[in-house]
Amino acid sequence: MNHSASLETGSCNEARVLLVDDEPLVLEGLRRSVYKEFDADLASGAEEGLAKLRKDGPYPVVVSDMRMPGMDGAQFLAIVRTISPDSIRVMLTGCSDMEAAARAVNEGQIFRFLTKPVTPKTLLATLRACVAQYHAARLEKDHLKITIEALEQLDVGTLTALARAIDAKSTWTAGHSERVTDLALKMGHAMGLPAKSLEIMHRGGLLHDIGKIGTPPTVLDKPGRLEPEEMQIMQDHVKIGVRILEPIPCFREALPMVAQHHEWFDGSGYPAGLAGESISLHARILAVADCYDAIISDRPYRKGLPKRQARELLIQASGTQFDPMVIEVFTRLIAAGTVQ
Ligand SMILES: [Fe+2]
Repeated sequence: MNHSASLETGSCNEARVLLVDDEPLVLEGLRRSVYKEFDADLASGAEEGLAKLRKDGPYPVVVSDMRMPGMDGAQFLAIVRTISPDSIRVMLTGCSDMEAAARAVNEGQIFRFLTKPVTPKTLLATLRACVAQYHAARLEKDHLKITIEALEQLDVGTLTALARAIDAKSTWTAGHSERVTDLALKMGHAMGLPAKSLEIMHRGGLLHDIGKIGTPPTVLDKPGRLEPEEMQIMQDHVKIGVRILEPIPCFREALPMVAQHHEWFDGSGYPAGLAGESISLHARILAVADCYDAIISDRPYRKGLPKRQARELLIQASGTQFDPMVIEVFTRLIAAGTVQ
């Protein structure tokens, strides 16, 4: 039988199970109960079961008797869990072992337990449920892996499309992430940051507000001052953004931009209250670009300010909200006409 093919197709007819019991007659009885649907390997004790698992595993399902000489079923299945974490574990117990079985379930060592004697019908139904559970978990794992790999492959064009999708959630933020990224990159370039650093800024800039996917439109588009609890919901976009991007390895270096773009240089920002150079340089640059674009853009509660006034506000906040070094670069770019 081609085992790997059977696992991939998820066919119950070819699912493999490992049955462990020290009583040969019981073991043979179990095998006979399931042989039409399952390819059962047998082991007469924990040691033999572990050897089979190491040699022929992984098995989608491992069924073990509780009472066995030497290592008992609970100990055996706990080890199975460490060497073959995807295998679904089932324990067979006598009535007097109920307490141990309940403990094993609670400690997460087993998926379910069956009381002896078990009818073929119950055993089959249990094994079918276990195999379904095994395949569902594998599909979920594979799917997550594919998603992370796909996000790793995202090029700038795709990231830009994603940034537009974020900004499109509210008419007030259309184009915000791209403009902010553009400005931040100009500053980074003027500071002489290396290409790798600019590439990180590009990714982080485009997706810095990705957490706003989780902000309700009633808060995002509120045409007035936010109540304290609404303000908290708005500020939560930072933590949500970090949660979204955290699992993706290629965003690891851009993550501080997402996490720290609302921190203030004097330590009075959010969410962590970081100050000075504890805030990543990328985030300190992004903060200036983000704020400048927000001030000159219309918002539901006010018109955008003229650029001259916006620059004045930013310069006034040098040393409090913003890193003076970044503000200096920003004003230099304005004077040179690089930033409008
Ligand atoms: Fe933000």
